[in-house]
Amino acid sequence: MIKIRFISADGSETHEVEAAEGLALLEVAQADGQPLEGTCEGQMACSTCHVIVAAEDFARLPPAREEEEDMLDLAAGATRTSRLACQILLTSALDGLTVRMPPEHRDMQRR
Ligand code: FES
Repeated sequence: MIKIRFISADGSETHEVEAAEGLALLEVAQADGQPLEGTCEGQMACSTCHVIVAAEDFARLPPAREEEEDMLDLAAGATRTSRLACQILLTSALDGLTVRMPPEHRDMQRR
């Protein structure tokens, strides 16, 4: 099992979960009730699965493909450690990964 730590957009809440290797981070986040829409379900047609990876963990992720980089350009509030959660597949190399929710996701849920 891979440990993942989710931090709320304002940093006030932290939640740790354990997830099976091979799952997409988006699936794990949604199962945990994190506010990620993931509208296109991993088809790279939205950026509503955008998460901000902790700076110290970012280098552990495989590099983003060009399509992911293009979608991240459209993500509101993107930072240099932003990634799309649907494109992150959990491996043992990611044990202990910490990601934060961008503030925009909360607003999208209120629509
Ligand atoms: S769910 Fe749409 S790009 Fe990730």
